[in-house]
Amino acid sequence: MTTTASAPVTRWPLPTIPRSADEVWAANYPDFVAMVNQTNVMPGAHATLNTWALHSRLGRQHHLLDVACTTGFTSRELARLTDCAATGFDLSADSVALARYNHQLLDPSLRLAYHQADGTTFTSEHTFTHIAVGAALGFFPDPPAMARRLLNLLAPDGYVLASPFWAPEPLPDHAAAVRRDVFGITSPMETRDQALALFAGLDVLHQADHTLTPEPADAIDHYCRSTVDRVLDQSGGTEPAVRSAMTERLRQIKHATNTLRAHQHYTVLVLRYDARTYPNRYVELF
Ligand SMILES: C[S@@+](CC[C@H](N)C(=O)[O-])C[C@H]1O[C@@H](n2cnc3c(N)ncnc32)[C@H](O)[C@@H]1O
Repeated sequence: MTTTASAPVTRWPLPTIPRSADEVWAANYPDFVAMVNQTNVMPGAHATLNTWALHSRLGRQHHLLDVACTTGFTSRELARLTDCAATGFDLSADSVALARYNHQLLDPSLRLAYHQADGTTFTSEHTFTHIAVGAALGFFPDPPAMARRLLNLLAPDGYVLASPFWAPEPLPDHAAAVRRDVFGITSPMETRDQALALFAGLDVLHQADHTLTPEPADAIDHYCRSTVDRVLDQSGGTEPAVRSAMTERLRQIKHATNTLRAHQHYTVLVLRYDARTYPNRYVELF
């Protein structure tokens, strides 16, 4: 007799697949991200991950926490780059299911674990050497409170890896509406000073400001087509109306991103938590 207990789980992980355009449009934003298995990333994607990994000396002996992990890009790719262990959590059960699925597809030997959890109450039996928060603080109702909570999960001398968006001027009404209605972000858009103040008291080991260039329509179309082709292949979806709705909704999201990015910048940060000095600051910037 043979056993199949440890067969990798590469079946499509969601219990239902959309059968109509209405179902595609009805999903909330995080569940739509999962529905199309979008490779949802923090600002700067692979370039930011590399910078974080190098400046925080991330390696096999470390355990990273991926905050609001969506479909798992940050933890999966950092584990692939550095062989670290990682734990991710997200409020969206569908996103967590996709993070597990993508882990199995890429490399089941990577040491990754994903949990459905609310960041405002998430706890762990152990601390983490690295916490990757990307631009996710903006998704929490009270970003300063969430930033403080994260430090309770961090080991002494641990690192916070962040890449917050900020805007030098208040967003015009149409861009603020896109941020609220398309992405569900209700906290105010931070200025650079406000975004960096969330991490006050941590040692700044690396900091680099980046401007954003809107993506051309052709590049967006290529991305949307690739993503929808892949998810229909993975999930076995065949309805033409579903394909069109997924492509159109993803395209609208990417164009909404372009609208926002015309007004935003982001800063890549590698910050060290020195429990002996925090929350004081003794080091000048220049
Ligand atoms: C755009 S993604 C974050 C992107 C990325 N992880 C980053 O580094 O910027 C936003 C995610 O936050 C999650 N989220 C929103 N509120 C949350 C909460 N209270 N607890 C955990 N996750 C939450 C959503 O489900 C969504 O998947």
